[in-house]
Amino acid sequence: MYDNNLDSKKILKHIKWGIKINNIHIFDEINSTNDYSKEIDGKFNHYDIVVSNSQKNGKGRLGRKFYSPENTGLYLSFSFLINPNSFNFANVTGIAAVAVTKAIEKLTKVKIGIKWVNDLFYNNKKVAGILVEGVSTKSFDASKIIVGVGINLSTCEFPEDIAGIAGSINSDVSRNKLIGYIINYFDYYYKKSTSKYLDVYRSHSIVLGKEIEYYEGEHRCLGKVLEINDYGELVVIDSFGILNVLRTGEISLRVIND
Ligand code: BTN
Repeated sequence: MYDNNLDSKKILKHIKWGIKINNIHIFDEINSTNDYSKEIDGKFNHYDIVVSNSQKNGKGRLGRKFYSPENTGLYLSFSFLINPNSFNFANVTGIAAVAVTKAIEKLTKVKIGIKWVNDLFYNNKKVAGILVEGVSTKSFDASKIIVGVGINLSTCEFPEDIAGIAGSINSDVSRNKLIGYIINYFDYYYKKSTSKYLDVYRSHSIVLGKEIEYYEGEHRCLGKVLEINDYGELVVIDSFGILNVLRTGEISLRVIND
């Protein structure tokens, strides 16, 4: 049983460096914190935080679900407004993966591996995932970026379809503190040059140099990962010797013989 209650005052206590928070919305149960984040009003240069003790319809990438039982995980979305004409979406997912990795490693003894693009692994099991979404605001003068983070903290039983893949970091870390640290790290790397987050991203990568299987639409491809380039893209040489650059988005990927 996970005993620390979500508490906005405690979350705020851990937010550093004058980072501005507009509102914190806390729920015991919700459909999806990402979906709720789409409906709230944002404020420029501020983050909005939505966090729930459980989700009925937690969403993952590629239309998948994110299993979100009560008390044993962190189900968090934070959102901010951007000017769509001068914003580079490409790095947000990678920066979020680095922020969550750094926060977990700072607050626990767990060593995280990042599977491109945004799955976090521990003991060969997926323990966290990130879903970044963008929506236009009601007034259409800005876009809102929503960063959804799901972490299995102490969940030990999973539905059959993910039982072999999903794991947990087995930690009783304070969720309030973890939220604060994730936002601090995200804001730090978001404001630095991309090389800063990429250094951390590459050093935690579990796909660099590995043989992988990936799907482009229905098409199954095999290849070897050569590098993560300066745009956070995966450079792969496929089985025909052709270089492919995989961008974030609709690609599922599996490391072979790992
Ligand atoms: C993935 O693994 O494909 C991404 C999972 C993202 C899950 C989080 S939990 C909080 C937020 N709300 C959602 O509905 N999804 C994200």
